Amino acid sequence: MKKILFVCLGNICRSPCAEAVLRQKACEAGLDLVIDSAGTGDWHVGKPPYAPMQAAASKRVYDLSSLRARQFDRTDFERFDLIVAMDGENLGNLAPLRPSGECTPAVLFTSFYDGTQTFVPDPYYTEDYDGTLDLIEACSDGLVRYIQANLKL
Ligand code: 4NP
Repeated sequence: MKKILFVCLGNICRSPCAEAVLRQKACEAGLDLVIDSAGTGDWHVGKPPYAPMQAAASKRVYDLSSLRARQFDRTDFERFDLIVAMDGENLGNLAPLRPSGECTPAVLFTSFYDGTQTFVPDPYYTEDYDGTLDLIEACSDGLVRYIQANLKL
């Protein structure tokens, strides 16, 4: 079973949302995946996703309420098959944590999206929760197609 980890900064907006959206889309596609999320920062460890993010997600029937923030750990490079970051800053924060010899791919979520957006904007600052959800759904559709085509399950 393939294991996918989403990473953002705080693990209270984008990556928990991506976790719930991919879980739903994988279920619809009949893909059996382990899906988790983490933040590079530790400010919100143990907290549920940010209330406005939860509210926007629940309008699209994604339930984030049981998720709790955790900080990315360098052992995650061994524990997951694919690490998916929301923006270039996240990727930059992950790079120095990579154990030597560990080659698990760490890629941008938008690399699975066929539009022009090159990162997932942070709604904690933009307050555009619906725009973020639209992009996360589109990226997730692309990620499901990628997994079906490229990852041996
Ligand atoms: P996220 O958004 O990375 O999408 O979870 C953030 C939430 C909180 C903070 C930063 C980003 N913060 O600095 O508290």
